[in-house]
Amino acid sequence: MLDLFGDYKKDDHLPPISETELSDAEVLKEAHALKKELKDKMLILGHHYQQDDIIEFADIRGDSLKLAQDASGIDKPYIVFCGVHFMAETADILTPADKSVILPDLRAGCSMADMANRDAIDKAWSYLTKCTDEKIVPVTYINCTAKLKAFVGENGGSICTSSNAESIIKWALDEGEKLLFFPDQHLGRNTCFKMGIPTEDMVIYDPNRLNGGLTPEQIQKAKVILWYGYCSVHQGFTAEQVRKLKKEQPDVRIIVHPECSFDVVQEAHEAGSTAYIINRVRELPAGSRIAVGTEINLVNRLNAQFPDKEVFSLSPYQCLCTTMYRVRPRWLLASFRAIKDDKPINIVKVDEETAKGARLALDKMLSLS
Ligand code: 13P
Ligand code: SF4
Repeated sequence: MLDLFGDYKKDDHLPPISETELSDAEVLKEAHALKKELKDKMLILGHHYQQDDIIEFADIRGDSLKLAQDASGIDKPYIVFCGVHFMAETADILTPADKSVILPDLRAGCSMADMANRDAIDKAWSYLTKCTDEKIVPVTYINCTAKLKAFVGENGGSICTSSNAESIIKWALDEGEKLLFFPDQHLGRNTCFKMGIPTEDMVIYDPNRLNGGLTPEQIQKAKVILWYGYCSVHQGFTAEQVRKLKKEQPDVRIIVHPECSFDVVQEAHEAGSTAYIINRVRELPAGSRIAVGTEINLVNRLNAQFPDKEVFSLSPYQCLCTTMYRVRPRWLLASFRAIKDDKPINIVKVDEETAKGARLALDKMLSLS
């Protein structure tokens, strides 16, 4: 069985500022005041899936691609990353050594990123490359540990996000005959299918089965090898929900994230990254009713941001990323206080050897984006 904690260490855990010390309102008040006071020392990045009381602190809001691109140009000593662990690692890899990246709560991980680790990938790579003489190019979704980013860097591959997956996969298939895509099978399958590759040419490598559950013949025949990983949040949307909505409310436009499963993406009217979804909601005419298949904090924010449209979740069960949810104002305030005292806490640091390989793959992605 895979170690569900992957390459992360999750025991470095700071107790929050208690409710007896400060009320929620006092926490927000002090955090906003400290943000102003520390403006020359720190910059705050926030992923769109963060809650409103956190995203309002962000100097830069973005999806994974934008945050990775913007992190590289930040000139403040501290970057406070309101997102999840792999995003903070990416920012650390892309910034000079004299900058510190802080993840307010180190437990903010990603269940999908934890579905692959370096040992399992090395084992898969050794088997796959033994089974075929054709060149396999590895591409990892940015939602993975730095060690996996280093793996693709060391093996001539690239990283992608949901915004640039198509152009990166096209590049990979120009470079070689086969693609190994991890850890998200759905982004891999949905993107490859959109590019004209039939599902019959794709196989699943399941790290919990002997040889990934694949025979040498299956590997030789396949064009695309997809890792058995998925996002538990986007798994919450079903094709049945799409069909029901289309039947009962045919005026509703249905847009989903490509981390949703293949049948959901096929049934929906449109699919695209977080940035794509935001742009489409902005573009659609006033009066539009839009059901969105992605994380609930973003869906609710879009609804508030565009009062002339109705934006709601495709699922009645309000799919929430519980790991993003861990970044709360108390943790943010504890990070700000520590920066003020020049005793920063919750720093995410990637060792230089890993960072070197990962930087190769990130630079490849950024040059192709
Ligand atoms: P993007 O920000 O690339 O759309 O990814 C969505 C996501 O699940 C982030 O973890
Ligand atoms: Fe990971 Fe899914 Fe949460 Fe994104 S939404 S951080 S992929 S668990």
